[in-house]
Amino acid sequence: MKFFVDTADTDAIRELAALNMVDGVTTNPSLIMKSGRDIKEVTAEICEMVDGPVSAETVAADADGMIAEGRELAKIADNIAIKVPLTWEGLRACKVLTDEGRMVNVTLCFSANQALLAAKAGATFISPFVGRLDDLNIDGMELIGDIRTIYDNYNFDTQILAASIRTANHMKEAALIGADVATAPPAVIKAMVSHALTDKGVEAFLKDWASTGQKIL
Ligand code: E4P
Repeated sequence: MKFFVDTADTDAIRELAALNMVDGVTTNPSLIMKSGRDIKEVTAEICEMVDGPVSAETVAADADGMIAEGRELAKIADNIAIKVPLTWEGLRACKVLTDEGRMVNVTLCFSANQALLAAKAGATFISPFVGRLDDLNIDGMELIGDIRTIYDNYNFDTQILAASIRTANHMKEAALIGADVATAPPAVIKAMVSHALTDKGVEAFLKDWASTGQKIL
């Protein structure tokens, strides 16, 4: 499973990229707002740091507006994936932009039917939002499984990008179900390393080591 980082925080991306943990980046208008930076400037910086796809989101409500914004965002770098919402207008924009050979990430997906439409419209990535469904007591991970089954039934090339990932357990479940990609905040990726028995084991080994009085260096 590829790891995308869901942030516009360049320091956090740099830290994870140094460990080969970044196969791509996703941003959205809220993350750009949080960064406090100009969208084109920060996106260009991210695209230089990361070889893989960097999603930048359109904000127009109609297809023509999304297409124009998408083409403008795509000028930032070759690895831009244009994000459009899963509306009828977004699907129209997706078709035009993918026909032009651009990567398109269709976002805000909350149902298997929406994902089926996005694949038919040629989406490069579909972003089902796991955490926001969980917030409503609906099993978000079940949606990832349903989309996996449907895409496999018909050999769709659209990559399943599990989004709105909130916990390390979400990462494990997405990998088990067969999501192509999961995009998660840096803190969630770092939380994957934590295990109480690892901490306890390190503590016990260091205590025993100290009692030997030996040194390695
Ligand atoms: C994905 O592309 C979105 O930016 C993101 O995963 C949304 O996550 P949230 O529901 O935690 O805001």
